[in-house]
Amino acid sequence: MSRSYSDIGDKQLPGIDRNAVDRFFAERAEKIHAIGPLHAVIYQDKNAELARCRDLAEKAKLLPLLQLNGSQRVLDVGCGTGRWAQELVPRSAWYHGIDACEGLIEYARGQFSAMENCALSVASADDFSLASIHESAAFDRVLCAGVLIYLNEVEVRRAIRNIAEVLAPGGFALFREPAGLGRRLTISEHFSEEMGQDYNAIYRTREELGTLIDDEMPGPHFRLVGHGEVYDEAELNNRSDTRQLWLLVERTA
Ligand SMILES: C[S@@+](CC[C@H](N)C(=O)[O-])C[C@H]1O[C@@H](n2cnc3c(N)ncnc32)[C@H](O)[C@@H]1O
Repeated sequence: MSRSYSDIGDKQLPGIDRNAVDRFFAERAEKIHAIGPLHAVIYQDKNAELARCRDLAEKAKLLPLLQLNGSQRVLDVGCGTGRWAQELVPRSAWYHGIDACEGLIEYARGQFSAMENCALSVASADDFSLASIHESAAFDRVLCAGVLIYLNEVEVRRAIRNIAEVLAPGGFALFREPAGLGRRLTISEHFSEEMGQDYNAIYRTREELGTLIDDEMPGPHFRLVGHGEVYDEAELNNRSDTRQLWLLVERTA
């Protein structure tokens, strides 16, 4: 088990084991019947009220940023159980959720596949294109909530590039990420008592996330139009060294 902190400019950045991440989410999917679809993706297995309040606060903050009017094509990268699909499917012309975890997509299909304007596919953020998910038109909105944290350096760059490539001119990509406060925190093979599972994740700093986005979604075609903290209420942050952030990128041309 390890928790390591790194600083910008460190030559060697610790990584995480992608197979362990895949196992973690496969186990979350197997537990849905016991923990429910919200905890499967938001965690806080022993604090139902915190999970519920975080879900509501995040949606209240982020939904207006997406400026949906029912005419847009929306891609939800790492959609999990469809926590966001609940909000996005009724507000979109077309919603497509992709996730690397087959079990989570299977659950989401059970909930949403009867809706005519909705598709759900197994695909990895760092390895997809419009063609690979059987789409012929770019997306007006891309939401990527809590996913980059599970990707190593090369993979996270590929994921952001893939999102840039499927975003239509005039469209917006909204990232919601847990971030390290001041220092990057890497959690590797840490047994979480609360979840009863091994956990792996990289909490990049706001600066690191900004640099990754600047590099992979460069001007003049892309520009960061806003960023901030997701939770206004201090009690929704139960860790002193991380915060939930949002970053909104516009594709201008
Ligand atoms: C913290 S959950 C968030 C789920 C959803 N975005 C939400 O906000 O409710 C992280 C999700 O990312 C997915 N995920 C992890 N690595 C991924 C990857 N490489 N490509 C696509 N999805 C991935 C997981 O399976 C899981 O559904």
